Amino acid sequence: MLRERIADIGKFVEPDRVRREVYTDPQIFELEMQRIHETVWIYCGHESQVPKAGDYYTVQIGRQPMLMVRGADGKVNVLYNRCPHRGNMMVGDRHGNTGEFFRCSYHAWTFHHDGRLKNIPMLESGYAGTRYGRDNPDCSMKKAARVESYRGFVFASLAADGPTLLEFLGESKVAFDDMCDRAPGGEVEVVPNCFRVIQHSNWKIFLENQLDALHPSVTHQSTGRAAHEVEKQIAKKAKKGEAPLSYHMLSAFATVTIDKWDAFQTLNYPHGHCILTGYMGLRPQDPDTLAYDKIMIKAYGQRRFEEIVGVNIHHVLIYPGLSVQSPLQQLRAVRPLGVDRTLTEIWHFRLKGAPEAIYRRSLAYYNLVNSPATLVNADDLENFWKCHQGLASEGGDWVTFGRHHGRDLVKGNVVETAPNCGTSEAPMRNQMKAWAEYMRGA
Ligand code: FES
Ligand SMILES: [Fe+2]
Repeated sequence: MLRERIADIGKFVEPDRVRREVYTDPQIFELEMQRIHETVWIYCGHESQVPKAGDYYTVQIGRQPMLMVRGADGKVNVLYNRCPHRGNMMVGDRHGNTGEFFRCSYHAWTFHHDGRLKNIPMLESGYAGTRYGRDNPDCSMKKAARVESYRGFVFASLAADGPTLLEFLGESKVAFDDMCDRAPGGEVEVVPNCFRVIQHSNWKIFLENQLDALHPSVTHQSTGRAAHEVEKQIAKKAKKGEAPLSYHMLSAFATVTIDKWDAFQTLNYPHGHCILTGYMGLRPQDPDTLAYDKIMIKAYGQRRFEEIVGVNIHHVLIYPGLSVQSPLQQLRAVRPLGVDRTLTEIWHFRLKGAPEAIYRRSLAYYNLVNSPATLVNADDLENFWKCHQGLASEGGDWVTFGRHHGRDLVKGNVVETAPNCGTSEAPMRNQMKAWAEYMRGA
């Protein structure tokens, strides 16, 4: 019924505007879970979340409760968190260790780490002559159709067919390269645990905000100003006339004024992925950074070191489920819970082999800018909720993405914002283009 009703998805998405139902209609939400989140590659977690055999971590993919588990063979499997007997969830905790096998709490069916049935109590006497047993795949825990990882970041797709993970990521794989290359050891490890925030708005509102370069100096202005006042006072008293770098992370929301954001650039790729360049490319010359630089040069040599730290990315958005701030080793995974409810998991990572001070710096950004405790996050969350309330009203039919529309530079399958158009709404246009393609089943 729904498919007929929205058969012509083009009615909902135009190049520079989108119907409000796209954010508020529960039936559209159901269809986007089927055609987008339960089809494309979705980030499950980092391999270091499950270091030992039997370690598991639960994760939601679309509407499906899944778990990521490390097998005795070292492989990370992604399985539906469901017992094939009568449907009981296999694990009730968010994470833990299942031991040598999974054992269902209801009737003690047991399963290997790859989901294969291991045993059923009194299997022979109970099931002789039936269709059930070890040879029947329906008696095993179902696996995600495809699982792949890139530099330790595990993704699953619940669709058997489609692009490989690397084909899907395309240029957005730089998120993981940039993050891992900044480690002298070439790898990152997860910092347990993450922050979890449930916002009362549609999941797309969160993603559209990520590369929205117009909003920071408006939405976060008061936070930035307050931080800047304190920063100035500290600087006045300090010997060298400088406040700790962490103050700059917040004060930048006021000192990088609205006009300056146009100087940045967004690069928009197939599948809805986008990159915001600039802003974080600054290279401070404080003792902590210099000590880190020395270790990096030893690990990589001067030339490669310059290349690595010269990558100038603020944000990589991997549509539809991930927002990565690679130079600060943090990411936010987006888990839609309902048409008007979205969970974000805010994770951060340690650079293997980097000094503690460098970790502390990114931890400061994590706490000051991305955590639920910061006013920056609270400012965004308030906007998200207010946007959803407005879209649920009959005050208008469209959401518009017209800023700098028509000025984008199309280079093959990449759309670049033109010089001095960093606040362009090109990323939102690009996301909705991908959305419409997925929804059409393209
Ligand atoms: S529901 Fe799992 S063993 Fe019965
Ligand atoms: Fe924001």
